[in-house]
Amino acid sequence: MEPVVIDAAKCIGCGLCAADCVSLHIALEGGAARVRDNACVECGHCFAICPSGAVSMPGYDTSGLEGIRPLSGFDPDDLLLAMASRRSVRQFTPEPVAEADILRILEAGRCCPTGSNRQGVYFTVLREDLPAVEAMAARAFEALPRLSRLAKSGYAAERGQFFFKGAPAVIVVSGKQDTDPALASSYMELMAGALGLGALYSGFFVYAARASEELRALLGLPVGVQPVTALCLGHSAVEYRRRVPRRPLKVTWR
Ligand SMILES: Cc1cc2nc3c(=O)[nH]c(=O)nc-3n(C[C@H](O)[C@H](O)[C@H](O)COP(=O)(O)O)c2cc1C
Repeated sequence: MEPVVIDAAKCIGCGLCAADCVSLHIALEGGAARVRDNACVECGHCFAICPSGAVSMPGYDTSGLEGIRPLSGFDPDDLLLAMASRRSVRQFTPEPVAEADILRILEAGRCCPTGSNRQGVYFTVLREDLPAVEAMAARAFEALPRLSRLAKSGYAAERGQFFFKGAPAVIVVSGKQDTDPALASSYMELMAGALGLGALYSGFFVYAARASEELRALLGLPVGVQPVTALCLGHSAVEYRRRVPRRPLKVTWR
């Protein structure tokens, strides 16, 4: 299937698609855009930029994509304040997370950029019998050769709640490399905040899951795909009154 199709009857020959094509897959020939046989990364820029709607992407559902909301429309001070106000939440109420909220969070992950537009990020939603999943993680964790003092003391103190802190839902984000899933997770955490949910990255769960065949099977990951983050989600049982201090920036200007 062609990744991109240009309707010659609709193309006005403006060249915007060709100029913005990262793969040099589109060229302007004889006053009209034409696809060439260079590898297309299917980034969709041609679809998004075309003023006359001449571009289609047959392999994708492109319904409902009209309209954009540029980030420049948000007040930067407000955005920064919101980012600095988010906290890792480790105390949750028993209230479940609505499926509609989980779907919004997944959608936030899906729209995050990926290197070469790979879109190779996998999501596993855990909601059923989380204590049993905690127990699987505990088995794997206890078998790990080297644990930090923080890990050992936390694990001993919070047995049964160490990995998920009692959150009613967890989304494990996985991939063949770390960067894309990590970036997607960051979008997802922000969306969780916007939905009024608390979130916690459980790095210790990822650590355990990477070492456990039992957990890998539960997560349903194809060969070569590793868990990268585990986002614990729920309604926060705590409220923070101010932001937290951070160390000074480590920045080099040249
Ligand atoms: C990749 C990653 C893994 C983390 N893993 C854990 C974890 O396993 N358990 C935990 O209690 N907190 C975990 N955290 C939360 C950090 O401890 C927390 O982000 C940090 O203390 C700063 O607090 P803040 O998120 O409220 O700003 C993790 C955070 C990140 C980014």
